[in-house]
Amino acid sequence: MTELALRGATYTLVTDPFLNSASDCAVYEPDGCILIRDGLISEIGAYAALREKLPADIKLRHYPGAILMPGFVDAHIHYPQVEIIGSYGAQLLEWLNKYTFPAEARFVDGDHARRIADFFIAELQRNGTTSASVFCSSAPASVDAIFEAARRSNMLLLAGKIMMDSHAPANLVDTAQSSYDDSKALIKRWHKRGRCLYTVTPRFALTSSPAQLELAGALMREYSDLRLQSHISENRAEVARAAELYPQRAHYTDIYEHYGLLDERAIYGHGIHLSEDELRRFHETGANIAHCPTSNFFIGSGLFDIAKTKKAAPPVTVGLGSDVGGGTSFSMLQTMSEAYKMAQLRGISLTAAQSYYLATLGSAEALGLADRVGRLGAGYAADIAVLDPRATPLLELRADVAESLDELLFALMICADDRAIAATYVAGELVYKRDVSN
Ligand code: GUN
Ligand code: ZN
Repeated sequence: MTELALRGATYTLVTDPFLNSASDCAVYEPDGCILIRDGLISEIGAYAALREKLPADIKLRHYPGAILMPGFVDAHIHYPQVEIIGSYGAQLLEWLNKYTFPAEARFVDGDHARRIADFFIAELQRNGTTSASVFCSSAPASVDAIFEAARRSNMLLLAGKIMMDSHAPANLVDTAQSSYDDSKALIKRWHKRGRCLYTVTPRFALTSSPAQLELAGALMREYSDLRLQSHISENRAEVARAAELYPQRAHYTDIYEHYGLLDERAIYGHGIHLSEDELRRFHETGANIAHCPTSNFFIGSGLFDIAKTKKAAPPVTVGLGSDVGGGTSFSMLQTMSEAYKMAQLRGISLTAAQSYYLATLGSAEALGLADRVGRLGAGYAADIAVLDPRATPLLELRADVAESLDELLFALMICADDRAIAATYVAGELVYKRDVSN
């Protein structure tokens, strides 16, 4: 039985601050203690209260000045796009053709896939991200590479082979049948192996034939515990093209719903241009949205209306995604900062609690994982990010004048990045420790 105790300030959201009053949602303990046993949090509370209970020989790590939080949960990210992050001058459809598809075509090569997968997992951990929902390429080898890399540090990862049989380069397309067969083989190989969760991944309606969407729906019917990820309504030209390709459907959301791809197991990236009618279908079916602000700014897709989506009657469950490589940072702190700015442009100011919620418990809820990750609590995975609110000279100066926890947390998410991650734990094991030698 492995045992470890972490001491430091602890901060966690326990319920949704968009729907409940702020004081009910966050739990902060200025001198806290997290007791870890077999990869799970066995107890959490004030150090003064737990000190008596700690076994005499327990390993205790103290992080004075740091804030221990649940590891971040990235609800939408593409690992084969790491190398094309920051590619210039194109909006979605041109960006896909010019940069994304050529990069993804390289993932038929297992060596390349393994090299990028290892980099990608390490980069997540350097940023305090302990779970993610990951798009691979259309090559099954790309899925093997990412799950093998995730398993080396026992990370809870969702990932799937992109299904894409139409309107894409010949070296990337599959067929409806081969995508079904390959996905099924990957489900058998990876789903629920350790903490790996296979995720059915039709890229989006523009690159899937009706036959392929039909078979994606068949997989979802055959396996009740699978999740599904895709994209919707990110860019106006994309929305128009979806209507051209599926003229018999009432709207973009209806395309996915028609093929059985809209329920509480599904998460769709973006959803910027969804109509009231479509948002209602999301609400009624329980389908989820991954909000990806750095990507939406960078590719010029539009301004997601988080207040309307989360708070309007009826609300939709929303998580936060980096969407690398359309997105511009692995850092969920930077992603929260851009979500704040986007909301400002929509006329609302997200609170610190709402922002940290989106990056942790909110994403976990949107991915159907809120019973195991996204918060600090007994029985939850010991997936923990250790944040240093004084990581840089600027942060230190800012922290000195912060008059409340909320002020400190807010300035941290606006100004910080990977430099503020002092350490990352996955299933109770230290997987990343910041080098402070220089
Ligand atoms: N829509 C379909 N594929 C993609 C992708 O790879 N990235 C983004 N941002 N949008 C998409
Ligand atoms: Zn995406």
